[in-house]
Amino acid sequence: PRKRRYIVAETGQKIETVGVIGAGAMGRGIAQVGMTGGMAVLLYDAMAGAAAKARDAIFAQLDQMVSKGRLEDDAAAVAKTRLTVVDTMDAFAPADLVVEAIVENLAIKQEVFRKLEAIVRPDCLLASNTSSLRIASIAATCQHRARIAGLHFFNPVPLMKLVEVIRAPGTSDAAIAALVAVGERMGRLPVVVQDSPGFLVNLGGRAYTQEALRIVSEGVATPAQVDAVMRDNWGFKMGPFELMDLTGIDVNFPVSQIIHEGYFYDRRLATAPLHQLLKESGRLGRKSKQGFFAYDDAGKGVVP
Ligand code: NAI
Repeated sequence: PRKRRYIVAETGQKIETVGVIGAGAMGRGIAQVGMTGGMAVLLYDAMAGAAAKARDAIFAQLDQMVSKGRLEDDAAAVAKTRLTVVDTMDAFAPADLVVEAIVENLAIKQEVFRKLEAIVRPDCLLASNTSSLRIASIAATCQHRARIAGLHFFNPVPLMKLVEVIRAPGTSDAAIAALVAVGERMGRLPVVVQDSPGFLVNLGGRAYTQEALRIVSEGVATPAQVDAVMRDNWGFKMGPFELMDLTGIDVNFPVSQIIHEGYFYDRRLATAPLHQLLKESGRLGRKSKQGFFAYDDAGKGVVP
């Protein structure tokens, strides 16, 4: 496939050891691309057993890549040796970069960054995978903000090539260059964007999902019809409703709210009551087997 380069960066500081905090859907993907990109990965989650469960899932993913011929057997075996599951953030002391992928909550992220400052080396970079919070807000309670930036991956990480490298007002050029280089080593296509609500992809993405929600709310078409048109006619990989079910309504509803608020309640960015209804009724998408569509145990859509 054609390799596109969004920007060519000067390689900054060399990143060999990456700490990943949060071993959920995103953290495990970030760990995996770090491992296949040749870096040592330390994986931590606050919930007991979550990081070990993530390790099993990552190993299964690597085995699947081997069976599909997308990864050499030896390369998968070496990648597996690069992962260490840790049970305390203190284990991040030797890291060159820590990527945070925990719950989308500003106060909790601020606390984690403050704790990390006391653990890591002064030259260790700190990045957040936040979808919608401002990097400047996460960094607001930290002492050394030049090394703090966003490194925003997309779900599922191993398949989605893009990564947004987010520059907050205080982020140094060296930190941005190092994160672009690390993104490329992870096999991603980095794009450097400014620190604004939703960054590039989730701001632009509002047009995709919010308009689709409006069309369905108005009774113009069903979710299946909208998805079919966007997918089969316009060439999107997924329709907006499949996409929201994949991301999780518990993730994309608050993201929509945060971006709407971040642009001072711009009407363009308002989501629809239907979105909130799904969230409040626990129809969270694939993870709850019911969202806009229903899913079977294998995660396959069974409706329509
Ligand atoms: P998730 O719910 O699958 O995983 C979050 C993990 O963080 C859980 O395992 C939880 O136990 C752990 N955690 C929570 N608080 C913690 C703490 N204080 N210390 C250590 N671990 C903690 O969430 P997901 O989907 O992986 O999202 C993580 C972050 O990535 C969020 O900021 C989200 O907005 C962002 N994101 C999510 C995307 C998605 O499609 N799901 C896409 C891009 C970014």
